[in-house]
Amino acid sequence: MSLSEGESRLAETERHHSELRDHYTAGVPGALFERILAALREVGKDSGTLRPEDMAPVDEFHTLGRVATLELARMAGITVQSKVLDVGCGVGGPARCLAAEFGCRVTGVDLFFEYCEAAMELTLMTGLDHLASFCCADATALPFLDAIYDVVWSQHVSMNIEEKRELYGEMNRVLKSGGTLALYEVLLKPDGPPGPIHLPVPWARTAATNFLVSKEELRELLREAGFIDIGLKDVTGDALRVFKKLESRTRERGLPPLGTHVLLGLDFEAMIYNQLRNFQEGRLSVSQVAARKS
Ligand SMILES: C[S@@+](CC[C@H](N)C(=O)[O-])C[C@H]1O[C@@H](n2cnc3c(N)ncnc32)[C@H](O)[C@@H]1O
Repeated sequence: MSLSEGESRLAETERHHSELRDHYTAGVPGALFERILAALREVGKDSGTLRPEDMAPVDEFHTLGRVATLELARMAGITVQSKVLDVGCGVGGPARCLAAEFGCRVTGVDLFFEYCEAAMELTLMTGLDHLASFCCADATALPFLDAIYDVVWSQHVSMNIEEKRELYGEMNRVLKSGGTLALYEVLLKPDGPPGPIHLPVPWARTAATNFLVSKEELRELLREAGFIDIGLKDVTGDALRVFKKLESRTRERGLPPLGTHVLLGLDFEAMIYNQLRNFQEGRLSVSQVAARKS
């Protein structure tokens, strides 16, 4: 790569990260951790005995929440011995869930300091800081040595990342030989109606942060990156049921004090509606994925 190609690639990455930052941090004013704390206070859950499940409506930032995390943990065969890397960890809900339920060690990485900071503070509040830790990093350039994790885990992150080869390549690199990749992915349905998906959705307000692939494209990317025994479990039916309930409850009663809107802002209501339409019209599916490094 020439110097000018390198410079323009760097500028492109910076532009993309700034668009992502706007999406994940600019929706609501004020520090992220303080907003979460205020919402927890509002529902009477800011005491010293805070458990991960108390925060699940806000810190399990993916379709089907904590249920999906526990199901993926079962598919990935997580045990107390597993050394887990959570790529795109958000505010750390899944990492705390795995640490509390299985007693395993989890390192979470996220692109944004605000998310890592909230993840660390909430982990201290739950007394799980001896098992879960967090740092800021880009999923496509992980700051870890080769072959050190038993499980690489990532839920609802790849849809923000255009450089899929780098992403899955890095996940493969840091996994031990025979280690497990556990993914939870929103996927494009190739047989869906023509035209783009309805936006905004929880990971994108505009096309600039939306990079979806189909099930077959994902399988191919994982094979190319060096994964074998790729198993996908389609959970779109469950996702559709949950979004239907969420949409009608929000229309009737508004958003509850504790929910994803604390992270994203009040247009989360429009995101719920659009995501329901995307599922109903057969544009998107959701799959839990487990694979092994050969
Ligand atoms: C929808 S949230 C999911 C958070 C978390 N995995 C969960 O399920 O609770 C997507 C997260 O991916 C992070 N993310 C997006 N692109 C990333 C990248 N290139 N490297 C690291 N994190 C990234 C975002 O900052 C955000 O926290």
